[in-house]
Order: sequence, then C-alpha cells, then structure tokens
Amino acid sequence: MEALHLINSDNQAPAHPEVVAALLEANAGSAPSYGACRWSRAFEECVRTHFGPQASAWPVFNGTAANVLSIAALLRPHEAVLCARGAHIEIDECGAPERYSGSKLILVESEHGKLSPSLVKRAIHSIGDIHRVQPRMLSISNSTECGTVYQPAEVQALAQFCREHALYLHIDGARISNAAASAGTGLGEMVDGADVLSLGGTKNGLFGAEAVVFLKPGLDAAFGYQRKQGMQLASKHRFLAAQLSALYGTDLWRRNAQRANQLARRLAEALLDAPGLRITHPVEANAVFALLPSAAVQDLQQRWGFHVWDEFSGEVRWMCAWNGTEAMIDAFAQDVRTTLVRHTQHH
Ligand SMILES: Cc1ncc(COP(=O)(O)O)c(C=O)c1O
Repeated sequence: MEALHLINSDNQAPAHPEVVAALLEANAGSAPSYGACRWSRAFEECVRTHFGPQASAWPVFNGTAANVLSIAALLRPHEAVLCARGAHIEIDECGAPERYSGSKLILVESEHGKLSPSLVKRAIHSIGDIHRVQPRMLSISNSTECGTVYQPAEVQALAQFCREHALYLHIDGARISNAAASAGTGLGEMVDGADVLSLGGTKNGLFGAEAVVFLKPGLDAAFGYQRKQGMQLASKHRFLAAQLSALYGTDLWRRNAQRANQLARRLAEALLDAPGLRITHPVEANAVFALLPSAAVQDLQQRWGFHVWDEFSGEVRWMCAWNGTEAMIDAFAQDVRTTLVRHTQHH
C-alpha cells in the first residue's frame, strides 16, 4: 500500500475481498432491475434483523445522498435541521442539503463533535413565529466528524429530547460500524429512538453503497418516489444490495471497523508523549486529530498523504481504514516522532 494513501481517509481503502466475492456471485446472469431482485430482498431482511421488523432499507450511491434524502423525505422547506457546526451536512456536502431539501441548517456548537440535550436546547426557540424557520430535525453523526462516539445512552437521551420537542432524529451513520465497534454493541442499540439512519458502507469495505434506513413505521410512504426523483434509484440495484449484504449480513462490518479503530488507538498511544504534538479530540473510533508545528506537518506531508483539517489552527486528521496494518501505523508514528525531533532541534 502506498504511504500516500495509508492515513489520509478511509475512502482511500480498497473493497474487502468478501465484498468482491459477493459482487461476483451477484453477477451471475440476468436478474430483475430497480430493486426487484433477490439480493435486494436479502438486504431488506438483513436490515430488519439489525434494526427491527419495522425498519425499511433504501440503498443509494453515496452518503451525501443518504443524508440529503433523509432530510428531504421528512421536512418541508420552512422546517430546519439542527446539526453540529462542522457536521458533514454543513461543510462537506457543497450545500446539497439546503439546495435539494430547501431546509435551513441551524448550527449548534458541539463538544468534540458531539451534541447533548443541553447544547441543542439553546437552538430551540421562536416556535410558531412565522418569520422564523421551525426546527424539525436533529441530525447527529456517529461516529462524529471529530472521531468521537455517542454511546447508546447518549443517543437515547437525544431521542427523548427530540420527542419532547417534536423533532425527528437523523443519524449520519457513514461510520456507524466504527461507533458500534467502539461501544461494543450491535448496530440496533446505536440507533435506539432515532427515526432515520444514513447507513454507511463505503468507508468500511465496500466499493460504494450506502442506504437510507427508516427506523419507524410510516415514514417511507413516498420514499420510493423521492429516491427516484433524487436520482438515487440504481437500475442494477442488485450490485448495491449485494455489497451491503456482504457487510451487514455477516460480521464483516464489525471486523473491519474494529480493525480501523484499533489502528487509530495504536497510533494515538504511540504519539501520546511525542514532543510538540497534542491530540485534540478523544480517539474513540478510527480518526486521530492532532496539532503539531506546521514545519513538521509540511515535512510529513511529502511522505504521507493527509490533509490539514483546519487551515486556521493547522489541526491535521489522520484516518485509519480496515486494510491498514500495525507495521504501517508504527512506521508512520516513528516518522512523526523523528520529524518532530528534527524540527524541534532546528529551532
Ligand atoms: C460524517 C460523514 N457523513 C457522510 C459522508 C458521506 O460522504 P459521500 O457523499 O462522499 O459518500 C462522509 C464522508 O466523508 C462523512 O465523513
């Protein structure tokens, strides 16, 4: 594996061999299109196994679409989404949620990417004021964009808060497997009380497939049309469904996520006392965020592909994936330490 792709993003990992095998199996002969095939039925069954008999599953091509369609399906344009400042829907979807759903995003200051009822409460006001958008959904990411994890009890507390304030609870689960592996629970426990989940897959070993999962009955009445109008109904639906079943119909989701999480923890531990380096968020999933001198960052970037996450503070993000190895993480950690020493000596 090229060093330049090791630590940059879990999107740079390949597809897992078990996913390749599932796609080869699904590639046998002709089959019904647009979700009418047996692979689609199998994935629906797999989703009910994780999330209960009322859950319904709708594969889509990517995570932005899963988030945008979750919002668009449940909200009217004068209704707003509360989310953490820095959430993927805010900064990394090119305004697609606002453009496509018409709903405004209301940003809430988070603690290491996480929201709590007391943080969200301050953003709930002006209910019934026709001059103001009306909060109607809370969207949280688990694991978060800062690599932290909401425990099931924290999600349940937010779900209770949402019920009290007539909000839908959406979970951006692009990395829900990493969150569940970190919490040591099943996937169902991680979304207890939520209404809709963007179920990830691409970052955890697929070629590319995600799904909108409605967790409560009655929410998906028009979603077949909404997904098609949103350009996310795959004609060869079997290939999305087969990928997702390869991950969630076995324990591959957990194995892959555990591995990525373990590697991030290993990296954080190796750098804990590195001179001039500070880890900025608790390392609870597969990401490590750190501040270090910019000269060291520039030096390291020549050998390791990673980006500066926050161009103002210089904070960097290192992300581990299912295909990383201990040896590679150790080599990276060693290089970080040597580089830090070199730049400290120069000053
Ligand atoms: C928190 C989060 N949500 C959603 C996504 C999905 O993005 P994409 O539309 O690139 O699949 C990502 C990918 O980076 C993410 O980090």
